[in-house]
Amino acid sequence: MRIGPHELSSNLFLSPLAGYTNLPMRETLRELGGLGWATTDLVNARSLLERNPTALKLAATSAADRPLAIQLFGSVPEEMRDAAVMCQELGVESVDINMGCPVRKVVSIGGGSAMMTELGKTAALVRGMIGAVKIPVTAKMRLGWDDDNLTAPDLARVLEDAGVAAIFVHGRTRAQGFSGTVNLAGIRRVVEAVRKIPVIGNGDVTTPGAAKHMLDETGCAGVSIGRGAFYDPWIFRRTDHYLRTGELTPEPGFPERMRVLRLHFERYVAFYGEAHGARLFRKVAPWYAKRFGPAKGFNRRIITITSCADFEAAVAEYLAWRAPFCDEQGELLPKYQPAPMVASFMAGDDEGAAGRAAIPVPKGPVEVW
Ligand SMILES: Cc1cc2nc3c(=O)[nH]c(=O)nc-3n(C[C@H](O)[C@H](O)[C@H](O)COP(=O)(O)O)c2cc1C
Repeated sequence: MRIGPHELSSNLFLSPLAGYTNLPMRETLRELGGLGWATTDLVNARSLLERNPTALKLAATSAADRPLAIQLFGSVPEEMRDAAVMCQELGVESVDINMGCPVRKVVSIGGGSAMMTELGKTAALVRGMIGAVKIPVTAKMRLGWDDDNLTAPDLARVLEDAGVAAIFVHGRTRAQGFSGTVNLAGIRRVVEAVRKIPVIGNGDVTTPGAAKHMLDETGCAGVSIGRGAFYDPWIFRRTDHYLRTGELTPEPGFPERMRVLRLHFERYVAFYGEAHGARLFRKVAPWYAKRFGPAKGFNRRIITITSCADFEAAVAEYLAWRAPFCDEQGELLPKYQPAPMVASFMAGDDEGAAGRAAIPVPKGPVEVW
């Protein structure tokens, strides 16, 4: 698997999750293995150019955080071009363009189509960026506006001609938001639309089997995982192993989950400072807890932490609270084990709906995601 000149150690990617896929998370996931390439949260191009501290923090990286793409968001061609140059100067391997869903409904205007006009504009913006940097430029998109306007294949082809090095496609439409099932046939159409560049499929991959299914059904070159990395930070290592050997290794047990949760927390504190880091971690910890089994007490308490000592106290309280649900070895009694993860595109309706309901998604508009 290659992105431009870069040969990757696996064909597994971390999807950007704004507010989560920061340096502490990326370093934590990389350490666990199997992750071939990661992308930052989306960064506003203008804010980066203005050296806004929040934007610079989003673009922050380290020697261990490699290979890395910075995801840029913006619609002013000059700003996107200059921000891409700045990313190159920051030393990252690539720039990813957040396309969200730039192509609106296919509206006919006087024999032509609004879509073609927009595609032309988008291509010009992308060409401006590619012409200004040596590092590869990639693009991330949804399938289209709605089921009647699946514009991603056209967009992907236009972007390949403009020179992008890879396409990431989330197999849902804008109208779907985060609901419904990921459309593997839609991803396949994007794969078939491009000539040479890799297409990376994305959406609802929460198990190694789901990643393989997406690869098999769509012909995509790689799989990008977002929320699944929170349920199972080992998903990249486990999936890489599964794809190479066919052997499915079990998810790690509770002690290993706690070890990684603590590591992740310590990195938050080192990166954001103790008080701010502890506060920000309040929204991270409950994702880990999704696979803890009974966790009501933990979720209630962890969203109040203010310091390292407080974090340790919350963990200690939780361990005591959890004990009645465990056997003498400290393992959860079978009736309290969390249900297996099921990807929407591999589940029956009921199962899929239950699985999806467990996944927190943005409440606001999804234009940019
Ligand atoms: C909380 C949250 C934040 C997201 N932020 C971004 C973002 O900054 N840029 C982007 O391109 N996509 C963003 N996405 C979309 C994801 O990258 C991904 O396409 C989507 O969640 C489907 O993949 P998944 O099911 O593996 O999470 C976000 C999704 C979520 C749930």
